[in-house]
Amino acid sequence: GGASKSSGAHGAVDVVLEGLRRLEYRGYDSAGVAVLGDGGLEFRKKSGKLTNLVGAIEASPLPVSLTGIGHTRWATHGGPSDENAHPHVADEGRLALIHNGIIENFAEIKQELLAAGHEFASETDTEVAAVLLAEVYRGEAAGDLTRAMELVSQRLEGAFTLLAVHEEHPGVVVAARRNSPLVVGLGQGENFLGSDVSGFIDFTRRAVELGQDQIVTITPESHRITDFEGNPAEGKEFTVDWDAAAAEKGGFASFMEKEVHDQPAAVADTLLGRSDSAGRLTLDELRIDPGQLKRVKKIIVLACGTSAYAGSVAKYAIESWCRIPVEVELSHEFRYREPIVDADTLVVSISQSGETMDTLMAVRYAKEQGAKTLSICNTNGSTIPRESDAVLYTHAGPEIAVASTKAFLAQIVATYILGLYLASLRGNLFTGQIRDIMADLNKIPGKITDILDREDEIKELARSMKDEASVLFLGRHVGYPVAMEGALKLKEIAYIHAEGFAAGELKHGPIALIDDGQPVFVVVPSKRGRDSLHAKVVSNIQEVRARGAKTLVIAEEGDEAVREYSEFVFYVPETPTLLMPLLTVVPLQIFACELASAKGYDVDQPRNLAKSVTVE
Ligand code: G6P
Repeated sequence: GGASKSSGAHGAVDVVLEGLRRLEYRGYDSAGVAVLGDGGLEFRKKSGKLTNLVGAIEASPLPVSLTGIGHTRWATHGGPSDENAHPHVADEGRLALIHNGIIENFAEIKQELLAAGHEFASETDTEVAAVLLAEVYRGEAAGDLTRAMELVSQRLEGAFTLLAVHEEHPGVVVAARRNSPLVVGLGQGENFLGSDVSGFIDFTRRAVELGQDQIVTITPESHRITDFEGNPAEGKEFTVDWDAAAAEKGGFASFMEKEVHDQPAAVADTLLGRSDSAGRLTLDELRIDPGQLKRVKKIIVLACGTSAYAGSVAKYAIESWCRIPVEVELSHEFRYREPIVDADTLVVSISQSGETMDTLMAVRYAKEQGAKTLSICNTNGSTIPRESDAVLYTHAGPEIAVASTKAFLAQIVATYILGLYLASLRGNLFTGQIRDIMADLNKIPGKITDILDREDEIKELARSMKDEASVLFLGRHVGYPVAMEGALKLKEIAYIHAEGFAAGELKHGPIALIDDGQPVFVVVPSKRGRDSLHAKVVSNIQEVRARGAKTLVIAEEGDEAVREYSEFVFYVPETPTLLMPLLTVVPLQIFACELASAKGYDVDQPRNLAKSVTVE
């Protein structure tokens, strides 16, 4: 993440640190700040979380300044050390640069610079960009920082957002972006740059979205956008529809816990305004021709991590409602094979951040192959929706905890709305049926609240299990991706070995793992849905129990059949089978969050992870 400001009423150090605090979820291996003070450029940088940097600045304060840049890092080239932290400084301490992304041709440029007599203090690709920028600034660009940034951007390959300041240009920050995120914030007599709007949300909600391969130069009064050749370009202004308070913990111990509790609102807001009482759906924002959607013969869902599990849930619903085949694939796997895609394929990408590089590359590839691309995204102004033919925004609000919760539920809801819309366009469902499903969806927020009111049952279980070495999760049908997501949450934040299986696959291998006392969560489908499915899962519970497993069951209210085979049962309110994931995943999220907290871990910033992974 990067944050920067140029000018005005607020001091640069505080503004940049505040921005970094809000962006820290993007990476937290190390952090640094550089400012332009009266005495010239000064910087501090530190490995570890942002508090280490704050401590270093308290011990050795930075000068009062109106211009500064800052960075929180998720290490790619070179481990997380003080030296490898950003900013990187060049031109004899007069120029500072920060960078997100990966510069692919850095080794070759470094050789040239070494041959020309330059020295390097770190192992990073970023320092190479800093030294190159300084050289071009002194040489070809003749002291014009924006021009130097253009020329450097033309030379670099890969993905990058670069921000630079130079002490010969007080009040100026120059930035470049290719494939990595960057937004501009417009203040009064001050302007900002950030990897996303949370970097400046405390100061302004007016933002400008940039295109690819653009340069932006900010001063207190202006922002000027060009392409890499220096031709003027336009950004698209938008207003952020949430405020700073939405990105605060609001009394909860962690962002994750708060976001779990935001879920009734996230679902309700994502449903808001999509249908009328007759069951007619309105998807104005979709900006895709209904005629084209009617012709779709295949849907491919692309995503990573939790978002991919939302896609797996969607497959069951969309295939059932629309009778269109749906494939779900991890973006990075799709990208590097030879997928069969044509103009009748609708590629639906799901991304909370809208910046996941693996997904962005997969979407671009699908477009090149002639597919129609639709983005389900939670972040206005981000890259994936911008580059897609169509967009359906989820309205979960800002998600800060690295492990995704409320965005997951909102994504599932968005895919359902899409599925129902396609079903109505294609005449697969009658308006009355759609109205009934929408009515069931509108009851989900209240049912989640009911689960949250009983969260202590699951929290107590979690605390009692904090020393477990491994936990397994089983599910069938829509319960299968829920089992996978339950396991992923536990891996991500509690560092416990966890795996999700299709319950039917148990006997083909995983059952060999079952030993005395092995905890196994089982997500049980509704009995009212398809009786045979329910019966099969109940048999699976008995099979693992007979081999010593401790069975922990998530079932529908009134399902007495499971009780006698389980050590623990958590009941969720009745709901149609296809909508059940919106409820059954919630106790599993609470379980992981509470267990990780009981172990004393930082649930919001788990080790080695980052929230938006903007490198491939
Ligand atoms: C990272 C995060 C996950 C997230 C995944 C996809 O790996 O740690 O929590 O599910 O990226 O992110 P996206 O923003 O594309 O939904």
